Amino acid sequence: MSTTTAPISVGSASPRLDGVTKVTGQARYAAEFRMAGRAYGCIAQSAIARGRILSINTDEVRRCPGVIEVLTHTSAPRLHQVAETQAWLLQDDRVHYHGQVVALVVAETLEQAQAAAEQLHVEYDVEPHDVVLRADHPGSYVPDHVNPNFPSETHTGDVDAAFGQAAFAVDQWYATPAEHNHPMEPHASTAYWDDGRLIVHDSNQGSGRIQTVLAALFGLDAAGVQVIAEYVGGGFGSKAAIRPPAVLAAIASQVAGRAVTVVVTRREMFSIVGCRTPTLQHIRLGADESGHLSSVDHLCYEQTSQIFEFAEETAVLSRIMYATPSVRTGHRLVRLDVPTPRWMRAPGFGPGSFGLESAMDELAQVSGIDPVELRIRNDTDHEAEGGAPFTSRSYAECLREGSQRFGWLSRDPQPGVRLDGRWLLGSGMASCAYPAGTGPSTATAVARPDGTFIVEIGASDIGTGARTALTQISADALGVPPERVQLRVGDSRSGPAVPAALSLGTASWGWAALKACRQLAAKLDGTPVTEVAVRADTTEDLKAQDKLSRYSFGAQFVQVRVDTATGEVRVDRMVGVFAAGRIVNPVTARSQFIGGMTMGLGMALHEAGIMDPQFGDYANNDLSHYHVPAHADVPAIEIGWIDEQDSLVNPLGVKGIGELGVVGTAAAIANAVWHATGVRYRSLPLTPSRVLQGTAG
Ligand code: MOS
Repeated sequence: MSTTTAPISVGSASPRLDGVTKVTGQARYAAEFRMAGRAYGCIAQSAIARGRILSINTDEVRRCPGVIEVLTHTSAPRLHQVAETQAWLLQDDRVHYHGQVVALVVAETLEQAQAAAEQLHVEYDVEPHDVVLRADHPGSYVPDHVNPNFPSETHTGDVDAAFGQAAFAVDQWYATPAEHNHPMEPHASTAYWDDGRLIVHDSNQGSGRIQTVLAALFGLDAAGVQVIAEYVGGGFGSKAAIRPPAVLAAIASQVAGRAVTVVVTRREMFSIVGCRTPTLQHIRLGADESGHLSSVDHLCYEQTSQIFEFAEETAVLSRIMYATPSVRTGHRLVRLDVPTPRWMRAPGFGPGSFGLESAMDELAQVSGIDPVELRIRNDTDHEAEGGAPFTSRSYAECLREGSQRFGWLSRDPQPGVRLDGRWLLGSGMASCAYPAGTGPSTATAVARPDGTFIVEIGASDIGTGARTALTQISADALGVPPERVQLRVGDSRSGPAVPAALSLGTASWGWAALKACRQLAAKLDGTPVTEVAVRADTTEDLKAQDKLSRYSFGAQFVQVRVDTATGEVRVDRMVGVFAAGRIVNPVTARSQFIGGMTMGLGMALHEAGIMDPQFGDYANNDLSHYHVPAHADVPAIEIGWIDEQDSLVNPLGVKGIGELGVVGTAAAIANAVWHATGVRYRSLPLTPSRVLQGTAG
């Protein structure tokens, strides 16, 4: 076996390995497992936000054509209580939010299930609901920690004293609305039971976690449940936790004695798969005469549901972004009668960066210092809160490279003066950062007699290119060309692994792959006669990791046009320059950054779940009223990165890139709209009606 002469694969622009399989329709997604006798489940949702179910006309609906079973809180099998309380479905008569699952109709065909579900009548004992987030809500409290495990509150130095003495100050409120995850593939599961074992094809971001919850719900040991997510059409965080389809398909297939598929409809996704919490953010920045920050104060208000506590990490960015002797951050949470907010791409850092980076633009405005220069002056090599040094931070390089590419240096700082016909022109920028974490994962590497290798990881490729990146990492560790490595992901049997969330994937799974492949290569002496397998686990390596601060950074620049007749904001140009350690694959990395910035554009201009206080739910629950960016909204996005060598961050020198691109985009656009119009928008999104009102005034 000649293994040492293969060229290095990491860093090469390999097209994604599953591309052809996907675009030719050969990749099978969770709802596409067509086993004989498969039945379909259709979800029925509550029509009230709070109260109790009095009765459901199940007997009548059971007589509808093709109906196999109607599962409700009285007829569904009893499930064990689990920490992931949202998975405890159809177990009691309480309604905690509008859109909660109150029944599942199981029928021979999807159409029969849908037709029968329309005949369901649920009677309720309705109670008054409370669905609106306010900063003065009497029920607001300090959560114990914020996602995933940051302290809720921090205070270093004397913020109030420093702010009181500041030469330049900003004291403002910023707001971001609820936003909804809408990956291309809706949440879906096909479940069946085989001799007491539960098998679930599920669209998710990490089969291992979902297997654990299903096993607990049904009182099975881990080997009794297998969850498979070989292909996943996106997730954006909404598939990182177990969702109703997996639980409902499992229950229904147990009752029906055959395979059952449950797919969430686009409308249902607005209430049962998580969303981004709305935020209200009070930010106070103080700086000295030369623009050096003396205080950063960031307090966030956000919501969670009655059934599960999710506290988003909105203020964490302010702990690490800039040099300042005093910094105070905090989170206040209120439980409302609403669907449970959960992860959405760049949780915390997305909304939090709108606040912080808008406030920095305002500080640039009041101090008369250029926004890029202001940020360079406040660069640092350690966290303001706690003082931990960064393993690497090429932030100033991103600012310099980005302003050069964009042509920022020739910018006239004056707002509201560039008129081109009926359009006002402006440019803006913002910074970004995101944790570059890792979590324990397992990988198995197998050498086969034909000279090929299999590497198996409980990872999930949700469309990011993880499969391709892991193949490259594995090939290099084995010293073979990537063509000889077959990567298997998505199966809970592969052992514990972090989910495809919090941008942990490539660094965490790659570390496990690196370890398993290196150990295998060391063990081999030529091509084996029979299969040789090595399994590696990074749990102990992670425990031994130092306490350095691990973050990726970047800077984004945008050019906008604002239509003075309609208030429409067009983004003409976007430039993002990032520093995220070693880039494993320039093709898939570039695509991740473009995707992130596109989501940031949606956050800036389009996306908002509009809560109707009377109705008790988001009123615009479809994609015609909840607009996500389409091609016509998005300019050519220019992506660059700094070649960052970081031997401290993890053995691969890789930092996650999935969420970084979302951070700061909305602020950069709002800052550009200020530069164009002279009007400062401190809440999102910048819809035409709002902008028209502002520019006319
Ligand atoms: Mo990402 S929102 O943590 O899946």
